Amino acid sequence: MITKIKELLTEVESFHSSNPDEIENFRIKLLSKKGLVTALFADFKLVPNEDKKLVGQMLNELKDKALNKVNELKAALEVASHGKGGMDLTLPGYPDELGTRHPISIVKNEIIDIFARLGFTISEGPEIEDDWHVFTALNFPPEHPARDMQDTFFIQKNPDILLRTHTSSVQIREMEHSKPPIRTISPGRVFRNEAISARAHCIFHQIEGLYIDENVSFADLKQTLLYFAHEMFGEKTKIRLRPSYFPFTEPSAEMDVSCNLCGGKGCNVCKYTGWLEVLGCGMVDPSVLENTGIDSKKYTGFAFGMGVERITMLKYGVKDLRLYFENDVRFLRQFQSAY
Ligand code: PHE
Repeated sequence: MITKIKELLTEVESFHSSNPDEIENFRIKLLSKKGLVTALFADFKLVPNEDKKLVGQMLNELKDKALNKVNELKAALEVASHGKGGMDLTLPGYPDELGTRHPISIVKNEIIDIFARLGFTISEGPEIEDDWHVFTALNFPPEHPARDMQDTFFIQKNPDILLRTHTSSVQIREMEHSKPPIRTISPGRVFRNEAISARAHCIFHQIEGLYIDENVSFADLKQTLLYFAHEMFGEKTKIRLRPSYFPFTEPSAEMDVSCNLCGGKGCNVCKYTGWLEVLGCGMVDPSVLENTGIDSKKYTGFAFGMGVERITMLKYGVKDLRLYFENDVRFLRQFQSAY
């Protein structure tokens, strides 16, 4: 038996092949149920007791070596076949893909850039606000429906602490802390208690603008917004102002731009009117100036506010607001820009 084991050990050690069939036959010959090594294990019971220790060790060594040999040869085979087959190890790796900015960030940066050219600075404020900065200082009467639970998210049932519903709150803070001339825009997230649909979301982004100085007039507002419309939607864009109402501006207006998709002829985006509603604006109500310690006899100002999602929808023809929040890369990858 010892001679047989030694013979097989030499055979295992000297065996070499890069042919998968030969390797498999070698495995079957030695290690399968009817293989030579298996048969030797079966004969082990016939070995006289005094030889059992030595023969046992030799048998185990033979089995381990045979197994290792088969595994080594198979592994070598796999590496070799990759080189020839599907995978070419000399090819360069996949390049890292560069991400793109979110469309809301692109448009927000573009709007900021346009107003920066007119000398507007950027101001930011807290998303969790108090009633004074969101409503009271802005002339909202106590019974105003915006304060209603249905429109505003309150924190911990305390009606004085809430998520801001617009970034006009930042402008109040700005007026409280600095002296005119003030020329600033406040971009940021705002929150309203609305059911989520293609046209509405409970979280969205606003950019509000404020300009306060001596002799600021409605003509200044109009010219500023016309400049913005041209820069944002193209030189041919027309604007129109419709009378409106906000508690903090007087007079107030809504601005429409001519539909850039159909050139004003009428299409399903502008609902065949040729016009798209883009923002609210007006002259800052003197009592808002007084609320923040600014002399309303000396100073006047204008303000405006727009939704970044809305502008993005109009600029890129996005039909469903929810796409902005789903972050599906197939959607996000479509927006390339200098911003
Ligand atoms: N704060 C208003 C809103 O959220 C927008 C607005 C800002 C209107 C400034 C007029 C002047 O709808």
